[in-house]
Amino acid sequence: MSEIQNGSGTSAKVTRQDLIPIFIMGKRYLVPSTLTIQKALEYAGYQLIRGCGCRGGICGACATVYRMPNNYKIEVGLACQTVVQPNMYLTQIPFFPVNKAVYDLDKLKPSGESIHKLYPEIFRCVACNTCTKSCPMDVQVMDYISAAIRGDIALASQISFDCIQCGLCTARCPGELPQYHIGQLARRLNGRYITPHAQHLKERVEQIESGRYEESLQTLMKMGTNELKKTYVDREYEPDVADEFWVPKEKQYL
Ligand code: SF4
Ligand code: SF4
Ligand code: FES
Repeated sequence: MSEIQNGSGTSAKVTRQDLIPIFIMGKRYLVPSTLTIQKALEYAGYQLIRGCGCRGGICGACATVYRMPNNYKIEVGLACQTVVQPNMYLTQIPFFPVNKAVYDLDKLKPSGESIHKLYPEIFRCVACNTCTKSCPMDVQVMDYISAAIRGDIALASQISFDCIQCGLCTARCPGELPQYHIGQLARRLNGRYITPHAQHLKERVEQIESGRYEESLQTLMKMGTNELKKTYVDREYEPDVADEFWVPKEKQYL
């Protein structure tokens, strides 16, 4: 019997019956059946220095490909989110080499041409939809590539919004497209040129830069840990349902 740590930091007893075989880069290991691939790798003795970041399905560092016995299909998933299955053959692809264009956003126009010039391989797309099927975030990858080909930057930006840059789509693409870099360029062009700028954000940045909060920050920085905690807990809370015009009673920080 051995002891393992679960995600909440508490430990659990593991008996031999709870162990299942998995294959990591061709080598067989017995690991607890409840673990994610990431934790199983660590249980098997791997130290994750690359290919591991947030452990919460957000950073995209832990792209993994695997195959089940007697099945030709290559499966994909995030190691931090996918639970091991008996006899899975797996390996991680923490980085996939991909074409990444260098550009100055301020010198680009928000047009399809900007994307087409930087990533001419976009026209190699054969509309096979493998990218969409490979995406662990359920992003409609082929649809944002199609939107980028048509020059619909706002739509490409919107569809690609949940991309976490894991690279699994790119690894499977027969046209060798760097989908996630194309989606990122679309979002940058959209944010820089198409989406209206938030006036309140602009004003707040100006206030910060003019030193308006310097005194408050200095006061906070001089506090000890306990006083800082108390100040945080005692602060005025925004109501759960605040109307548009809610303002705190304490206005010195506005
Ligand atoms: S995998 Fe590549 S070729 Fe296939 S639809 Fe996606 S971008 Fe196009
Ligand atoms: S679009 Fe590609 S890079 Fe982005 S999350 Fe999906 S598979 Fe990963
Ligand atoms: S470690 Fe960040 S998505 Fe898996």
